[in-house]
Amino acid sequence: MKLAVVGGGSTYTPELVDGFARLRETLPIGELVLIDPAAERLELVGGLARRILARQGHPGTVTTTGDLDAGVADADAVLIQLRVGGQAARLKDETWPLECGCVGQETTGAGGLAKALRTVPVVLDIAERVRRANPQAWIIDFTNPVGIVTRALLDAGHKAVGLCNVAIGFQRMFARWLDLSPAELHLDHVGLNHLTWELGVRLGGPDGENLLPRLLDVRGDELAAALRLPRQVLDRLGVVPSYYLRYFYAHDEVVRELATKPSRAAEVAAMEAELLALYADPALDEKPALLAARGGAYYSEAAVDLAAALLGDGGPAVQVVNTRNDGTLAFLPDDAVVEVQARVDACGPVPLAVPRLDPLYAGLIAQVAAYEDLALDAALRGGRERVFRALLAHPLVGQFERAEGLTDRLLAHNKEHLPWA
Ligand code: G6P
Ligand code: MN
Repeated sequence: MKLAVVGGGSTYTPELVDGFARLRETLPIGELVLIDPAAERLELVGGLARRILARQGHPGTVTTTGDLDAGVADADAVLIQLRVGGQAARLKDETWPLECGCVGQETTGAGGLAKALRTVPVVLDIAERVRRANPQAWIIDFTNPVGIVTRALLDAGHKAVGLCNVAIGFQRMFARWLDLSPAELHLDHVGLNHLTWELGVRLGGPDGENLLPRLLDVRGDELAAALRLPRQVLDRLGVVPSYYLRYFYAHDEVVRELATKPSRAAEVAAMEAELLALYADPALDEKPALLAARGGAYYSEAAVDLAAALLGDGGPAVQVVNTRNDGTLAFLPDDAVVEVQARVDACGPVPLAVPRLDPLYAGLIAQVAAYEDLALDAALRGGRERVFRALLAHPLVGQFERAEGLTDRLLAHNKEHLPWA
């Protein structure tokens, strides 16, 4: 089996390779191709990737290349994990929205729109080249904003599935707290990428006993601390919002906080420099502890599970993915992309049924889905007015003057990435 990783020079890649090495029974990779235009970085990451596989006695090979077309040729699956403009562009996304009193975040709100505009055309171009090289290959998209990017890929007819580590992170944490193995826990996970709630935590499978009330009872304080939300949010909702919901439920507090502390982009940029220095050490043959300070925990395991279900012969697996709604959430258009549990096999994902959703969640989901629709339109066709419409539709923006101010700033800060701006 051959897997290609576009953006393979990412400092995150050792996390992925560590998963491939540990889980080779689930996903037997013969060849891993890391593709990246940043040659120096790619060599550092590629070297460590080889050492990680060797240490674990993995027979697979790692090749590195800057040539996308050559790299994806014959790949069974192509993982796309890139960041157009790097941490410098992220830093801007996290900063200028604050001038308008809005959260500055890489995937939520106006910053997320900027990221979508920069990213969608690049990913679509890559996907087109993947399809030309190998029309059978599956595309696994980790590139944020995952919901919008996955929708763009599916609309263009690609064999694509979007993936995020939020659900698997909760599953692992809850399993630890309940002293169970992760496979024993099924989450009733519902929403859009980075806008999800765990409505239930079930023992054994979708029909199992709901352990969530007990979990909230016993671990409510820890959970609230992890999400940085007041405990009573959990108690009164009776469900677990993802940490991205903090940008909604505590928006103004987050804005005040962000005005005084260093941005995440700056923190990550410093960590990346440190990580690359570690990767350069030929004695290092495992992922360094520092990588755990990044947000990508368990993303390798989610990727292995998904690739195994799409490519392997182990039969279908149930997993949280980003895929077409197709009636799963009755209040959304069929072609929206949702993040839900799905049965995945070689034909792709089919969402499990979701019971009628409380309007408390359905309302916000519908509004953000409408924003995503407009955001994709702006990303595909460009134009100031389309950017403005997407911002006006976003529940964290909403006001005319605010949307105007954000539109001006978004365009001014992204000129080099948006040919039409
Ligand atoms: C989580 C999210 C990812 C996001 C990452 C950011 O893993 O699910 O979509 O890219 O956090 O982590 P970072 O360390 O870059 O802040
Ligand atoms: Mn994510």
